[in-house]
Amino acid sequence: MALLEVEELRAGYGSQPVLDGVSFEVEEGETAVLLGLNGAGKTTTVTNIVGVNTPWGGRVRFDGRDVTGMSPPELVRLGVCLVPEGRRTFPELTVYENLRLGAWTRRKDAAGIAASVELVFEYFPRLAERRDQAAGSMSGGEQQMLAIGRGLMAAPRLLLIDEASLGLSPLLAKTVFEVVDLINESGVTVILVEQNVGALRHADRALVMEKGTLVYRGVGDEIRDSTRLRETYLGKA
Ligand SMILES: Nc1ncnc2c1ncn2[C@@H]1O[C@H](COP(=O)(O)OP(=O)(O)OP(=O)(O)O)[C@@H](O)[C@H]1O
Ligand SMILES: [Mg+2]
Repeated sequence: MALLEVEELRAGYGSQPVLDGVSFEVEEGETAVLLGLNGAGKTTTVTNIVGVNTPWGGRVRFDGRDVTGMSPPELVRLGVCLVPEGRRTFPELTVYENLRLGAWTRRKDAAGIAASVELVFEYFPRLAERRDQAAGSMSGGEQQMLAIGRGLMAAPRLLLIDEASLGLSPLLAKTVFEVVDLINESGVTVILVEQNVGALRHADRALVMEKGTLVYRGVGDEIRDSTRLRETYLGKA
């Protein structure tokens, strides 16, 4: 059984449909990357999985359990956590305070929280150096690290990261993806939403979305090594 099963997911905004029957599975321990051009429906897919939006139809199963339409707090408690697009942090709060907020579903677990903070600081030493700095005063890359760190504070089993590398320099993007590898190696299943095909190097499974449907499902290497596939689905670089 896959850890996440998405079956014929349909969703949209108001009366405007966006997702037209999206189906895929992600096995426990994998990293999957969901690729697609602007407006393809990637964010809509993940927000409907984590309960930020309510699907119009179809099913989402996590660890065998039907979680379709559950609220984000319920899903966080089950171990599903989204790092949203746009690296939203609380700008007035410090790095440490932002991290603490990520652990609100387990706020009575002081030892667990302390261990998670240590882990985040180990992954991102820059955040440790800036522990007491206001999040809003940090660079975009540092805020992205903080957004991922805050997601980890929920001790997720499945971490979804929407556009981790957007706006980062190639070097910073590489640093972030290397941490994603470490997170995955620690046993967390990861879904990366990306426009950056460089993410394929870090993924076991690739999904490509176009106009609200998946047009390609396969192993990352195939699409990485095929210029034709890349150009068909993702446009010319
Ligand atoms: N809150 C919203 N209200 C209305 N329409 C929306 C909303 N969010 C997204 N859409 C529309 O849904 C479609 C899919 O958008 P979505 O954000 O899921 O795409 P995406 O693949 O994440 O794109 P990007 O790479 O630009 O982030 C687009 O046509 C978009 O305009
Ligand atoms: Mg998006």
